[in-house]
Amino acid sequence: MESPFKSDALKGKVALLTGGGSGIGFEISTQFGKHGASVAIMGRRKNVLDDAVSALTSLGIPAVGLEGDVRKREDAQRVVEATVKHFGKLDILVNAAAGNFLVAAEDLSPNGFKTVMDIDSVGTFTMCLEALKYIKKNGPGRNSSSGGLILNISATLHYTASWYQLHVSAAKAAIDALTRNLALEWGTDYDIRVNGIAPGPIEDTAGLSKLLPQEISNKTNDSMPLFRFGEKWDIAMAAVYIASDAGKYINGSILPVDGGMWLSKPRHIAKDAVKKISRSVEKRSRVAPAGLPASKL
Ligand code: COA
Repeated sequence: MESPFKSDALKGKVALLTGGGSGIGFEISTQFGKHGASVAIMGRRKNVLDDAVSALTSLGIPAVGLEGDVRKREDAQRVVEATVKHFGKLDILVNAAAGNFLVAAEDLSPNGFKTVMDIDSVGTFTMCLEALKYIKKNGPGRNSSSGGLILNISATLHYTASWYQLHVSAAKAAIDALTRNLALEWGTDYDIRVNGIAPGPIEDTAGLSKLLPQEISNKTNDSMPLFRFGEKWDIAMAAVYIASDAGKYINGSILPVDGGMWLSKPRHIAKDAVKKISRSVEKRSRVAPAGLPASKL
């Protein structure tokens, strides 16, 4: 699908994306590049990075792949510095790296819990901390009068509760908390905007294939407000919007991009049945009012 944004919406920006070589992270890398940004992508797997960089460069996007694990502070520091060395500055950090697996709470080991917290929450914080000195107002190489942008990818799982996702719900809740707190502290002190995107189920991603493996028959559509999965493009367009000048006053926001799915509940009465019974229920209630007496005030 064509982007509704101008192709120069992110002209001259330099973005570093963790998890930028695959899934949602790669789509954001691509769309940032198509809108004028240069992109550095960080990931653990060299072959994935190599493929992603050649796909990006074949589109004419200036791109570099940097191997590293967000759980290691030295990797975070090295990758941020390599990005600045390669492109001269850093304007946008996107934290898209994540880990996930389905597991019942009673079968989750403390180390399994910690592993996801380390990748998602601690990893996001570590990257933010390492990026700070470059991304802040007047950071090295930046000629903008304002600071840059941090964009954290979380989820909607923790808005309510999610089966077999205790660890991920906790990790994403922590990401959302750090998004808001950094928006407050770094927005005030360094003019950096810090925002989040909370994707719902996005087709053709590792996340969805882990949460809804092919072994499970798919009945999820019944409870989806827009009756479909999202596309990686939907998340990337939200990212372009927030990163562009259109988002210059957006700070501390976490935008759910899930078609309204987190609001969904099983329908307890069919629509036809509501039509049929609602008036007669109302009539009955007027004949024999129930509950507390009406106020005399
Ligand atoms: N069920 C229960 N526990 C699991 C598990 C599963 N399916 N997969 C891993 N674990 C546990 C391990 O048993 C281990 O705990 P233990 O030491 O108490 O046994 C802990 O998690 C760490 O596992 P390990 O395989 O050593 O971690 P890793 O660092 O190699 O991999 C993962 C991290 C598990 C998150 C891995 O899935 C990953 O790298 N994911 C990245 C990609 C991804 O998930 N993308 C989707 C993003 S939405």
